This record gives sequence, structure tokens and C-alpha cells, in this order.
Amino acid sequence: MTKSSLPIILILSGPNLNLLGQRQPEIYGTATLADHMNRAKQTAAELGFEIESLQAQSSGEIVTAIHNARSRCAAIIINPGALTHFSWSLNDALSTFSGPIVEVHLSNPATRDPWRHESVVAPVASGSIVGFGAKGYTFAINAVATLLADKK
Ligand code: DQA
Repeated sequence: MTKSSLPIILILSGPNLNLLGQRQPEIYGTATLADHMNRAKQTAAELGFEIESLQAQSSGEIVTAIHNARSRCAAIIINPGALTHFSWSLNDALSTFSGPIVEVHLSNPATRDPWRHESVVAPVASGSIVGFGAKGYTFAINAVATLLADKK
């Protein structure tokens, strides 16, 4: 198989997002993580990108994936789940990545529990897309494409 040379967008998902579709569907919707990733792959292909994705329950695995992305990936889209609100190791790791970083949340954390109001990822992201449910990943890929085109 020939390896594609399209620029890679890495989509990272934090703890509990493997349960999308079953987990609080009234908040997160009925689509599974695989549904979101399939739609993301379609949008990315239309815009000339390839998607790699990883879901992990711990920040260490996500930190390692960010390190590995540094020389290989054009952009990172990340929904860190609850790690969003306290994982400074994610903040440190993301700040070593030089391409666009888009933070995505299916829900709008600002309208929920007070402990969800702070994002420690937002300060090192190019921008955040929150509260648009399933459309969030599509918006994020379009944002990445625009940011990368602006850099050319
Ligand atoms: C979430 C919001 C977080 O507060 C929560 O811990 C999640 C999902 C979202 O996509 O809305 O796990 O990141």
C-alpha cells in the first residue's frame, strides 16, 4: 500500500469519550466517537487532509501522542474531556506543538458545572469550538484548513 502524503490532522479524545452514544445522550448526543471520526475523515478528505485519531483515558498517553505529532502532523484537534479542566501536563505538551491546535467540546462547558468553566488547554490553543455537538469536529477541520492556508 502506498503511504498517503496528505497533511495529517491528529484528533485526540480524552477520558470517557469512548462512551459517546451511551453516555448522557441528552448532553452529548447519540453519535458514537466512531461516528464523529468517520464524519471528520470525510470532511478532511474533501479538504485534502488525512485524519489520525486516538482516544485515551489518561493524560500520559495523550502527552505522548502530542510529542509524536510534533514532527509528523500539520495540526491537532483535541477534546480532552475532563482533563480540559485541570491537566497542566496537556497544556505543557500542546505548547511544544507549532501547528494549529483547535480545542473542541460537544457541550458548552461554560453553561455547566462551575468546575467545567476553566480550560487549561484554551490558553495554548489557536481557538476553541464548543457547544455545537457533532458539528464541532467539522467546524474544527475547516478552521484548521483556513489557518494552514493563511500561513502559506
Ligand atoms: C466535554 C466537556 C467536559 O467538561 C467533559 O468532562 C467531557 C466532555 C465535551 O465534549 O463537552 O468529558 O469535553
